[in-house]
Amino acid sequence: MVLIAPSLLSANFLRLEEECELLNNSEADWFHLDVMDGRFVPNISFGIPVIQQIRKTTSKICDVHLMIVEPEKYADAFKNAGADILTVHIEACTHLHRNIQQIKSLGMQAGVALNPHTPVSLLHDVINDIDLVCLMSVNPGFGGQKFIPQTINKIKELRQLIKDKSANVKIEIDGGVTLENAKEIVQAGADVLVAGNTVFSSPDPAATIIQLKRT
Ligand code: DX5
Ligand code: ZN
Repeated sequence: MVLIAPSLLSANFLRLEEECELLNNSEADWFHLDVMDGRFVPNISFGIPVIQQIRKTTSKICDVHLMIVEPEKYADAFKNAGADILTVHIEACTHLHRNIQQIKSLGMQAGVALNPHTPVSLLHDVINDIDLVCLMSVNPGFGGQKFIPQTINKIKELRQLIKDKSANVKIEIDGGVTLENAKEIVQAGADVLVAGNTVFSSPDPAATIIQLKRT
């Protein structure tokens, strides 16, 4: 069954503890935490102290998506803040292999995120070293954007690469996931759906999470 990772980027930050409780009492599998630095992406979100607090509210997996330059400078700090999975952008890593080794040596699962224009083939030589690939289905930086249809082909291509290399990697889709397109995304081969706007703008987020899961 597909895993659901609601993105707290769309939560009400004034009521963050309640929003975390809502997810804890739901069928959400992971907390997806979007960190933006205003350099890699044209937006700034939240960082280490906020993740530290969120960590205290939950025993669910904290899936931290770094949309920052020089992520190697902060891997240690995100581990200490409570990240279980740390995802870096391939476009932000000159020494991606080294970055992955660093994340693994700190005891976290390593994820690699690809922007919509970045080909899946670039993962060929690291696919056996990582735990997660995050395919961006919008240009990163903002919640509530429209799903880019070409992502469906990328999911299928990545599924094939994982099979060819006998890799043990989850495919996560991030951006523009809705109740309408979730089925097609899962059928193409996704393992994890990130959903910000769809979950938090819903009148009944817990029910929406169930709907996404049963898609
Ligand atoms: C975008 C973030 C996403 C975002 C998804 O840069 O990485 O995780 O919060 O939000 P929705 O589901 O609203 O597109
Ligand atoms: Zn994200």
